[in-house]
Amino acid sequence: MKKLLLDCDPGIDDALALALAAGSPEIDLVGITTVGGNVNLDLTTANALALREFYRIDDVPVTPGSAQALLGAGVRAESVHGATGLGGVILPVPVNGVTDGHAVDFIIETLRSAPGEITLVAVGPLTNIALAVRREPRIVEWVRDFVIMGGSYTRGNHTPAAEFNIKADPEAAAIVFGAGWNVTMVGLDVTLTAVVTESILDQMRSLGRLADLVVPISQFYGVVEADGGPAIHDAVAVAHVIDPSLLKVLPAVVNVETVGTYTSGMTVTDFQLDGKVPNASVAVELDVDRFWKLVMEAYGRLAATIA
Ligand code: RIB
Ligand code: CA
Repeated sequence: MKKLLLDCDPGIDDALALALAAGSPEIDLVGITTVGGNVNLDLTTANALALREFYRIDDVPVTPGSAQALLGAGVRAESVHGATGLGGVILPVPVNGVTDGHAVDFIIETLRSAPGEITLVAVGPLTNIALAVRREPRIVEWVRDFVIMGGSYTRGNHTPAAEFNIKADPEAAAIVFGAGWNVTMVGLDVTLTAVVTESILDQMRSLGRLADLVVPISQFYGVVEADGGPAIHDAVAVAHVIDPSLLKVLPAVVNVETVGTYTSGMTVTDFQLDGKVPNASVAVELDVDRFWKLVMEAYGRLAATIA
């Protein structure tokens, strides 16, 4: 099993990524931390708590983190994820609440407790991760791997140049990419190919109680960024942890633009190393068919659990 700590801003594709983790026996989810992003922190945290109980992973601690970006006003995406962050779906009110403390300290202490064992996956703005590396720089040595859904070397989505998670807190992203670890960057270049097609939606409809969530939120998932349906970006980052062979990654030097009028939040990706030390492993290709096979098998297991 692989231990995974998920920092997220649920968020529709965050919810679908969490379902993948919950339905995968390869994953030991050691914690969920939340950050303001798609919607405000109170909602991303409420969604994480509700999803935890809906997926029957009640023993996984949920710890809230940063409500705002480090410097900027930050951005939100209610138009894409809905006012509550889960489309129009209302899940049962969770019984259990958050763990005491702040996500930054939870991340640090969890990684400290198991050096080399835990994969940290961030699928929202990187504010919590930036604060954690500033508070305890050694976490870059303690992680087994560090994977983000974020960035892109070809195009943005929140702006023509910037992907949402990076644009939401460019200064945090700059700190994270400069912290001394190798960031596995699962960006729009590959996640936009992870599209919920009508065929996938039909398969989701047979998931019983799980279908009551995954079908409507997939349909709701706002502006279609890819042909043929919404792309479930965050699930690709979790899938990479489960089966690294799904993605082709290349070494690169990634720098984050923080001051450009039109380019703030851009992940400037240099694959021409010429002796430079890479700070990132950048995803360039996704085996889409095997990705969906993995996802639907996990969803089938989870559906059986929560029936
Ligand atoms: O650009 C896609 C990313 O932004 C995903 O993490 C989605 O949840 C939003 O946060
Ligand atoms: Ca997200």
